[in-house]
Amino acid sequence: MSERQIEQLKIMRNEITRFLLTYKFALDEMETKIEILKEEFESLHDYCPIEHTKTRLKSPESIMSKLYRKGADFSFESIRETVKDIAGIRITCSFLSDIYRVSDMLQKQNDLKVLEIKDYIKNPKPNGYKSLHLLIEVPVFMSDRVEQVCVEVQIRTIAMDFWASLEHKIFYKYNQSVPERLLQELKDAADTADELDHQMERLMNEVQTIKHLQDHSTEDLTSIIINNQKFSLPRALIDVLGKQE
Ligand code: GTP
Ligand code: MG
Repeated sequence: MSERQIEQLKIMRNEITRFLLTYKFALDEMETKIEILKEEFESLHDYCPIEHTKTRLKSPESIMSKLYRKGADFSFESIRETVKDIAGIRITCSFLSDIYRVSDMLQKQNDLKVLEIKDYIKNPKPNGYKSLHLLIEVPVFMSDRVEQVCVEVQIRTIAMDFWASLEHKIFYKYNQSVPERLLQELKDAADTADELDHQMERLMNEVQTIKHLQDHSTEDLTSIIINNQKFSLPRALIDVLGKQE
C-alpha cells in the first residue's frame, strides 16, 4: 500500500470516528436531560415518573446493513437521511400517563426539535408492540461547529418493556413466517401487559385521591383543649361550635 493510500485511509477512519462521535455526544446530551428531570423529580416531588433509561449506538455493521436494505447510497449524508436510529435512548416509565408527561417535558425543551412522533400506544403494531417513539434533533456543540443530530427516543412502561424485550428475543427480525397460533399468543401476552398497565394506573389514581383527601383534612385540623385534654378537630367544626356559644 502506498503512503498516499495509507494517508487516505487515515483520513477516512477519522471522518467515520468524527461522524459516529456526534451521535454519541447527542446521546450524552439526551441522557443528561433525562437525568436532570429524574433528579429534579426525586428531590422536589415525592414521585418520579422515570424508572430507568438505556442508551445504545448502532454498530457500523448494522448501519451498513440498514443502508443496504433500504437501497441507499454510501455517503455520510445518505446515512444521516436514511438511518435515523443510529443513536437510541429508551426511557422506561412507571405508569402509562407518565409516558406522555415525559414526552411533553422533552417536547417543551426549546433546544430540541421533534422531527417525528409514532404513537404505537394509541396505534399498536399488529403483533401487540406498544411504545411512544420520537425522533428528536439535538444540537451538539463541537470545537468548530454545531451539528443537529437525530436521536430515536422510545418511551414505554415497565410492562411494555417487559413484553418488547422478550418478544425481541423470541421473534423480532425473525425472517421466516411465524405460525399463526404463536402470533395470537404473543398478542394475548401484549393484551395482558396492557391490562396490568391500566390496573396499576387505576390503583395509582385511587391512592392519590385518598392521599389528597388526607392531606387536606390534616391541613384543616386545629387543636383545642377541653378539660386539660388536647383534641384535634376540623377547623370548620370549631368555627361552627364557636358561633353557637
Ligand atoms: P426499523 O427499521 O426496525 O428501525 O423500524 P422503523 O424505522 O420502521 O421504526 P419503528 O419506529 O417501527 O421501530 C424502531 C424500533 O422500535 C426498533 O428498532 C425496535 O427497537 C422497536 N420496535 C419496533 N417494532 C417492534 C416490535 O415489533 N418488537 C420489538 N420488540 N421492538 C420493536
Ligand atoms: Mg431500528
